[in-house]
Amino acid sequence: MKEIHLDDKVKLYYGDVFECLEILPKNTIQTIITSPTYWGKRQFTNDEREFGKESLEQYIHRCVSLFSNLLDLIKENGSLFFIMQDSRMGSGISRTQHFSDKFFREHPSWKRNGNSKEVHGNRSKVTAHHNIIKNTSWCGIPFKIANELVDKGYIWRDYIIWEKPNPMPDKIVNRVRQSAEYVFHFVKNKSYKYNPKEISVIGKSGRPRPMNQVWTEAPNPEVSHSATFSPVVVERLLKATTDIGDWVFDPFVGSGTLLKLCLKNDRRFIGCDINSEFTRVCKRIITSYQPLRIYSHLSDH
Ligand SMILES: C[S@@+](CC[C@H](N)C(=O)[O-])C[C@H]1O[C@@H](n2cnc3c(N)ncnc32)[C@H](O)[C@@H]1O
Repeated sequence: MKEIHLDDKVKLYYGDVFECLEILPKNTIQTIITSPTYWGKRQFTNDEREFGKESLEQYIHRCVSLFSNLLDLIKENGSLFFIMQDSRMGSGISRTQHFSDKFFREHPSWKRNGNSKEVHGNRSKVTAHHNIIKNTSWCGIPFKIANELVDKGYIWRDYIIWEKPNPMPDKIVNRVRQSAEYVFHFVKNKSYKYNPKEISVIGKSGRPRPMNQVWTEAPNPEVSHSATFSPVVVERLLKATTDIGDWVFDPFVGSGTLLKLCLKNDRRFIGCDINSEFTRVCKRIITSYQPLRIYSHLSDH
């Protein structure tokens, strides 16, 4: 675990998320919004600790263990959101987008097996087959993780379906296109911080009402990272469950979508990633934001 940036408003670490957990103070974080590498899909490092390269059962177990540790870490009225796409058995790790992108060509560590055409495409062993789940079937991963967390006693408040208007094209004709990811909201207690106006629309009555469960928003178009959050979705979650000055954590910080939103909205931020290119990108975001007046109105610094 390496400290990349530490001040009283932003902390950034390079390393494995489980190492990061060991050094974080308990009961200080208000909200966690995060998204691990999905199972058997893209890979961003050659590091065996990166999420998504294990067997299905190990992946689910690691996610459940991580998310329950995270729930234990947050404040009593805090929230955990994890954003995840399901995977189909038999599909493989994709490097397509990385291969065609100049940035990824210049940073071969972002590809699992280099950029040779021979290893390009569906080469994943973990997704090749399963003793029970037949090839081409959904695995139901986000739901399996959520069910286990419920069984451990955490409260599953919501799942929002984040629909992307421009999903990756595919050639299959006998099923619908995969265009959705799931946003799962977990809390420890029935009473948690929630600013309802941040997730509301004006209803037919002319009064605000909670938004519906399906949100159609594009992913972040600005960055090279190929698995980014939608800033619109994430900003809503952030503003609904935190106030100015609250600590927010993303253990899989990637291109820093949540980091930018925290800087913009005067929230304090902790981030971690196992890929040094991403932590470098995030360090640049922090240093280019620091000169701006942020948090100057907070009393606790
Ligand atoms: C889906 S991406 C996150 C994208 C991010 N939300 C954004 O908007 O750019 C998953 C990230 O998790 C990181 N990662 C995977 N396994 C990790 C681990 N064990 N510890 C820390 N980071 C990890 C990957 O390097 C990748 O950047």
